Amino acid sequence: MLKSGPEMPLVCVTDFQALARERLSKSSWDYIEGGAGESITRDDNVTAFKKLRLRPRYLRDVSQVDTRTTIQGEGVSAPICISPTGFHCLAWPDGEMSTARAAQAADICYITSTYASCSLEDIVTSAPRGLRWFQLYVQPERELNKRLIQRAESLGFKALVITVDVPTLGNRRQDLRNQLDLKSNLLLKDLQSLKERMSMPNLKMTPIDASICWEDLSWFRSLTQLPVILKGILTKEDAELAVKHNVHGIIVSNHGGRQLDEVPASIDALPEVLAAVKGKVEVYLDGGVRSGNDVLKALALGAKCVFIGRPVLWGLACKGEHGVKEVLNILKDEFRTSMALTGCRTIAEINQDLIQFSRL
Ligand code: FNR
Ligand code: LAC
Repeated sequence: MLKSGPEMPLVCVTDFQALARERLSKSSWDYIEGGAGESITRDDNVTAFKKLRLRPRYLRDVSQVDTRTTIQGEGVSAPICISPTGFHCLAWPDGEMSTARAAQAADICYITSTYASCSLEDIVTSAPRGLRWFQLYVQPERELNKRLIQRAESLGFKALVITVDVPTLGNRRQDLRNQLDLKSNLLLKDLQSLKERMSMPNLKMTPIDASICWEDLSWFRSLTQLPVILKGILTKEDAELAVKHNVHGIIVSNHGGRQLDEVPASIDALPEVLAAVKGKVEVYLDGGVRSGNDVLKALALGAKCVFIGRPVLWGLACKGEHGVKEVLNILKDEFRTSMALTGCRTIAEINQDLIQFSRL
């Protein structure tokens, strides 16, 4: 076990995890770290990456390695972006504003959650040049969704991400034991400023509208010019439906193992989704990405970009904005090294020949 402290350099993402554990209150740590049920999927997300082995190629002039890519047509410095997570004020006083500044500095995309603890306006003001997408938890009151989406669009968010895997909150045993009540800890300013009743994400209420279905997607698309991305798809059936309903992208995700336990690890679900999508829309992945090799493996299997959830909160909990910057820089540096050591100069050169399938 790492003996961490301010004097110890934090050299990998899991060093931040260890220090964050010391810094956070027990209930905040449990909430952030927690998985649903027995946390089988949460842990699988990490270990499934570790089962894959790489096939490096050498003598390919990797003196210049370019990690830049695009998502939905927008440039990012590396295919490593930030998943939506709620309540960043649990980890650092000015929460999402620090996250937004770090994301802007790293030149990557930050998906901002409906359950951000800062207002969308404050987030945009704190990092006006950052690339951001807005993640919607569909609220039972349809008009409120319309106002949230249009507000995000007018503030310059570049895509609408609809999370589909929370028709009800997963069973989070530790939060139940801690009697966690996010409502009393946090101001959901975004929604409050609309002066609307909303469903609060404490553990006793349903956080989103459980009645939405595929037919409703056209209504969401009609509200906005933004590309619409579905987050939380794990099967070929749903991937086919997503394409049929004209979404622009899919995030293969099991919500960090926080919703239905005992579903496949994200990296194991990725091939099935990609096979169904047949290149028609961009496919991304989140869940368990902790190293540059993990990023390389996800891209080798066909993801356009990966997103990280908990590591951002670990960075925030350790050092606020600087901690998030360090986490992103560590992953970007590791990824550049992984590319060089496997003979890849550009993102386009990353393909499935890098994966040793015979071992699986
Ligand atoms: C989440 N996640 C999440 N997803 C979402 O669509 N909206 C949200 O508000 C949240 N909130 C949230 C809070 C916390 C504390 C965690 C840990 C996660 C899920 C998140 O976007 C992502 O799918 C996972 O966190 C990815 O897995 P890793 O990187 O944490 O392993
Ligand atoms: C969670 C919700 C907020 O995973 O998405 O805690």
